[in-house]
Amino acid sequence: MLGRPENLPHRATEPPRFDLSDIQGNVLRGYTLPACAYVFVRILDIAKACRLLERTLPMVMTAEPWTTPPLRAMNVAVSYSALQKLGLDPTVLASFPDVFREGMRARAQRLGDRGPSAPENWEIPDFDFMVTVYAQDLANLQVALDEVIATDVEAGVDPVFIQLALDRPTAQDHFGNFDGVSQPALTGSGVIGRPGDGQPDGDGGWRDVAVGEVLLGYEDEDGTLPAAPAEPFDRNGTFVVVRKLATDVAAYRRFLASTNYPGGPDLLAAKLLGRWPDGTPLALSPERPDPATVADPGQVNNFTYESDPLGLACPVGSHIRRANPRDSKGFFEGRLTNRHRIVRRGRAYGAPLDPGATQDDGVDRGLMFVCFQADIWRQFETIQALWVDDGNPFGLGRDKDPLIGEHHDSLGKLTIPGHPPFFVKPVPRFVTMRGGGYLFQPSISALRYMASLA
Ligand code: HEM
Repeated sequence: MLGRPENLPHRATEPPRFDLSDIQGNVLRGYTLPACAYVFVRILDIAKACRLLERTLPMVMTAEPWTTPPLRAMNVAVSYSALQKLGLDPTVLASFPDVFREGMRARAQRLGDRGPSAPENWEIPDFDFMVTVYAQDLANLQVALDEVIATDVEAGVDPVFIQLALDRPTAQDHFGNFDGVSQPALTGSGVIGRPGDGQPDGDGGWRDVAVGEVLLGYEDEDGTLPAAPAEPFDRNGTFVVVRKLATDVAAYRRFLASTNYPGGPDLLAAKLLGRWPDGTPLALSPERPDPATVADPGQVNNFTYESDPLGLACPVGSHIRRANPRDSKGFFEGRLTNRHRIVRRGRAYGAPLDPGATQDDGVDRGLMFVCFQADIWRQFETIQALWVDDGNPFGLGRDKDPLIGEHHDSLGKLTIPGHPPFFVKPVPRFVTMRGGGYLFQPSISALRYMASLA
């Protein structure tokens, strides 16, 4: 089992400023419980499903701080189809945003889910809700899973797909890079932002992102309440995107080894991502990883792209620079990205490929990508459709994100700025979409209301 790098600092906390007992726990902070399962469930009998929800409600983890980590934790998010099956009033149903009601499958073209990533190839069938189960160990995970699925016939639900994420509980992805370094710091959340977690304040410093960018019912970056569905879904809930992203680690290793990049394979890997594998940002240390930077909470995320407009240190098209361009768009004093931040809570799944192996071993491995936001269209879809799947916003033509882009048509090209620049074409596909959905994670009180509809 791979450990979190010892020098990667944890975030500091302070007393939060809102009612944590009504907010599901995984929104404001990530759990460190090692075992995890994503259970995708179809409702067969709505009355029985509501009774199951009522029974399992006490196990749904709230955002209240732990004194000791629990043995098991559970969180629940619903698709639009579940809300329809609940028989909610049509005006309440209509108050949910169009994109959520359409669902991810219908948005596939916009998201770049084509070729092998197209919906007809997805493994995860249509589902009504997703339960994410976390546990200290396998035995406790099984206990929690039994609560959700073992009584399926009696409970009136059918678990149509279960994805375990057991092998990499820590922050390292299958490509060998540390993930989960940069998250938006949210006002009042109780997690103290480090420099770089929030937004550039235009004065050389950083400020927290308004919590309404993620949680409904609170002021957002516009200074108003985010558009929200009708009561009781208008407060303390959030919208969720889940995507099973399979990673072809062997192809990635072969690509690094066979590309004749003058800086060598390690630098090439860092240029794809924008950080060295240990998390050192290229923007701060373009020539080598720097453990001291990673160990310093004041430094590890403390950078903008202002001094590197051409991407000579960190390529403009690298994964992290696309996914959060920070100040580099140069518009509105850096206030463009503040409406497009997401809280990422994904986990790697599947056993790692043997170190050094360059042929695929047939094991399914990748990232269960999960993110929270107040507006799927403005936040996740902007990042995925405009910044990951397209190069135009960055002056890169049709180049896609070199690490996670869907290069199904062999148009994948990577531009590494330099004197002279270095071009790689084609860039193979390293990541394939295997299914997922758009969900709503209600507040605890809204979950209670839903359970009462039986
Ligand atoms: C298999 C797929 C993916 C892998 C392996 C991956 C890996 C990584 C890694 C290693 C980092 C750097 C560590 C960090 O800053 O936390 C990162 C950052 C990030 N990724 Fe991904 N990622 C994947 C998919 C996605 C997707 C689908 C999105 C959104 C559409 C996304 C959005 C982001 C964002 C917003 C950041 C933080 C950038 C920053 O604030 O500087 N990632 N990713």
